[in-house]
Amino acid sequence: MKTIFVKDYEEMSAKGYEIIREVIKNNEEPVISMTTGGTPRGVFKLLVEGIHKGLDISHTTFMNLDEYMGPRDAVYSVRSFMYKNLYNLINVKPKNIFLIDGEAEDSDKEIARYKEIINQYPMDVQLLGLGTNGHIGANEPGTPFDSTMFLAKHDDSTIQSTMREYGITREEAPTEMLTLGFTEILEAKTVLLLVSGKHKAEAVKALLEGEITPDCPATALRNFDNAIVIIDEDAASLLE
Ligand code: F6R
Repeated sequence: MKTIFVKDYEEMSAKGYEIIREVIKNNEEPVISMTTGGTPRGVFKLLVEGIHKGLDISHTTFMNLDEYMGPRDAVYSVRSFMYKNLYNLINVKPKNIFLIDGEAEDSDKEIARYKEIINQYPMDVQLLGLGTNGHIGANEPGTPFDSTMFLAKHDDSTIQSTMREYGITREEAPTEMLTLGFTEILEAKTVLLLVSGKHKAEAVKALLEGEITPDCPATALRNFDNAIVIIDEDAASLLE
């Protein structure tokens, strides 16, 4: 795992964008798997600007690593987030976008469908944010490192974060998510984890200085050569 230290959220976003931009430029059929939440907003903004300035994405496939179980158009859904913050702002063909269906009645079927898509479109980049409890995707603490795509139950801290991020009540907040497991995440050619803010400092300390354990899911990346972690000063503030 390669670690890059940056000053702040802006620098983290710029560096993250740069890596994604080069993958888009240098591959014939790039596949970029996104994440949602506060972390990737800056990258999406730069990606939109880059595309408006001429970055060609006509050959690029976009997907996401997870989706909350609930209405497709819910304010918190990954689908709503991606259209609002990226897909509605750029000229991308619907055939180049893949999303997990949070309304799927049969989650096993939906998992089989999405796994088939991933086999067909192997990921060049998997973008990730870090949970305050160390989760990646919805692989919460305790998830075995050999997990494959599954229906995950959120930890309490994750439910609280979703409530804060989307300004919703506990009753409105989703409690389950279909997520790629560690197995699919680590199959991406580059796993790009972005971390910003003091509230992530404990998780960053566990990620870089603690033992490799499912108790801190992100430590699954530590022995993975193709993982890049970009950490800002606030998130790095508890490191020795
Ligand atoms: C969201 C996701 C989550 C977030 C993580 C960090 O699709 O997969 O694992 O990346 O909870 O969230 P933020 O970026 O809001 O701090």
